[in-house]
Amino acid sequence: MAATVLMAAGPGNWERYNAPLRAALAEAGVAADLVQEAAPETVDYIVYAPSAPLQDFTPYSRCKAVLSLWAGVERIVGNPTLTQPLCRMVDPGLTEGMVEYVTGHALRYHLGLDRVLATQDRWAPAVPPLARERPVALLGLGALGAACAGALAGLGFPVLGWSRTPKDLPGIECHHGQDGLKTVLSQAQIVVTLLPATPGTENTLNAETLGWLPRGAAIINPGRGALIDDAALLAALDAGQVGAATLDVFRVEPLPRDHPYWAHPKVTVTPHIAAETRPVTAARVVVENLRRLRDGEPLLHLVDRAEGY
Ligand code: NDP
Ligand code: OXD
Repeated sequence: MAATVLMAAGPGNWERYNAPLRAALAEAGVAADLVQEAAPETVDYIVYAPSAPLQDFTPYSRCKAVLSLWAGVERIVGNPTLTQPLCRMVDPGLTEGMVEYVTGHALRYHLGLDRVLATQDRWAPAVPPLARERPVALLGLGALGAACAGALAGLGFPVLGWSRTPKDLPGIECHHGQDGLKTVLSQAQIVVTLLPATPGTENTLNAETLGWLPRGAAIINPGRGALIDDAALLAALDAGQVGAATLDVFRVEPLPRDHPYWAHPKVTVTPHIAAETRPVTAARVVVENLRRLRDGEPLLHLVDRAEGY
């Protein structure tokens, strides 16, 4: 019998995901009825995005798993009504987008492209160092952080990585724990934050840790707004301790019009577009987990509820 899969993924996602999910189901030979609405007690699995109105999972008594279309699960992981296994999104298309965003903004700072654009009225040579002379820190070495670290190392940057548990990644100098954070930040001229928002990562970049950076370092945050103490970052930018910041994610989104980030000359705001889940590749990931559920195999990308990611 075909399983009932409820798309509880908010406005627009039914249209975006319907055809890719049906194609992926056919490709994998998984029988499922994809529905937009159903009596809760008839639902076997839920495909979820935080823009969905669904907040109370209690009536979904038959549901065996919730599959998130988002990589970040901070808006659902602590929901006390969600007792089923929760899987986050690890999508090759999303990862590709994040690698492009991070390398693009890192190269912008590395090459001093803002200065190049600002000096189009005069001959003002300023030769950037080589990538191999510019250490970059990757805070977070998960699906996205590790891919970005690998791409930056491939361009020649010495990459220092930081994670909660020890890691061994080729070409990356890996550190972990609080001492590791100081080692990494004290060398980094560019810092990329790709940590999840959890109680353990809140304000990872704060007045003290920003003070560990070499003066003038640049920050790129496509992780989550809560990773940064905003007041401390603004103070560090004004004091010249931080040279520039590109911020994609914020504590409140959309970023309120009166937020000081909008007008700050050293801040680039992007509207949470660093990397989007791509329906064709993501549908295959969702369907692979539906197949595993059908065949009684372990789920991919299961969220650790205690750690919050
Ligand atoms: P993963 O869960 O794969 O990786 C998370 C990484 O953070 C791991 O290396 C983990 O360490 C590390 N980490 C977690 N807690 C701590 C801690 N307390 N101290 C040090 N390191 C820690 O996540 P992804 O790479 O898939 O995604 C990262 C985040 O990117 C998402 O949670 C989301 O917030 C954000 N994101 C943003 C997007 C955008 O468009 N702006 C798009 C998609 C995601 P360990 O390896 O030891 O577990
Ligand atoms: C995600 C995001 O978590 O888009 O997938 O931020």
